[in-house]
Amino acid sequence: MNVQPRRVEHQQTDKGSVPVYTTAVVEQPWAGYTAADHATWATLFKRQREVLLGRACREFIDNQQRFGMTPDAIPKFDDLNRVLKKVTGWELIGVEGLLPELTFFDHLANRRFPVTWWIRRPEQIDYISEPDLFHDLFGHVPLLLNPLFGDYMQAYGAGGVKAHGLGAEALVNLTRLYWYTVEFGLIKQNDGLRIYGSGIVSSKGESIHCLESPAPNRIGFDMPRIMRTRYRIDSYQKTYFVIDSFEQLMNATQPDFTALYVELAPQESIPAGNVLQSDFVYHRGTGEGWAKDGDV
Ligand code: PHE
Ligand code: CO
Repeated sequence: MNVQPRRVEHQQTDKGSVPVYTTAVVEQPWAGYTAADHATWATLFKRQREVLLGRACREFIDNQQRFGMTPDAIPKFDDLNRVLKKVTGWELIGVEGLLPELTFFDHLANRRFPVTWWIRRPEQIDYISEPDLFHDLFGHVPLLLNPLFGDYMQAYGAGGVKAHGLGAEALVNLTRLYWYTVEFGLIKQNDGLRIYGSGIVSSKGESIHCLESPAPNRIGFDMPRIMRTRYRIDSYQKTYFVIDSFEQLMNATQPDFTALYVELAPQESIPAGNVLQSDFVYHRGTGEGWAKDGDV
């Protein structure tokens, strides 16, 4: 009992940095967090709450409040689970680091959301290359309280198990969908473009960049387009995809993707920063959209 779970991070080898995978499910060693760990949580929490008011979608802000998360201490998974269980039936489970794809899909398909138990070190406050507790908990957990989004995540897990059986290309397509929605999605709300992607809400720089920088493209949601689009893991995104509502996301993912994977297999990938003639491009300030060649 009370074994400290491992902290599994990427490893430096002569081939550079390589990800390391782990399948263990662990108890959150809450009493083992140091004062420095809680301070890191507090710093990031306060900073992001401020940045996200007026930038994150209203569901994210409201749901985070419903959990009663505060900057005072790293939340206990058990406390959050009591709320989740009542509302959408999701359950947080502690993990040591990155999971192999199939293990990850299987958890989601069963409404278990894996949360890394450890938090980044002080020198990683602004950037960490892999998910930690702050990204997983602050970034992903609030939307699990939303019934539609919770269903989307579960369906994604089931779709992942299926794509895994279909082969590597299908998995590339489906992973891009996760990347451009769950991790880096934008949503158009009444008051303009807003963030819902967890990879954005857990990063101060990207929260501002994705909405305010003139550099990236903000393109209307289009399933085949997303599945063909490469993405960046080492810099801010060059393209964000904008949904109109979580209903739109749910509806677009109802059909069986098997035929779509077959159709996309011979098509070339689209570089991360390209804009196509057929894209619907959003204006960053007003959130109004128009077809390409408008003054964006
Ligand atoms: N409908 C998808 C399929 O058949 C599954 C899925 C649902 C994928 C929701 C992503 C999100 O594979
Ligand atoms: Co994530």
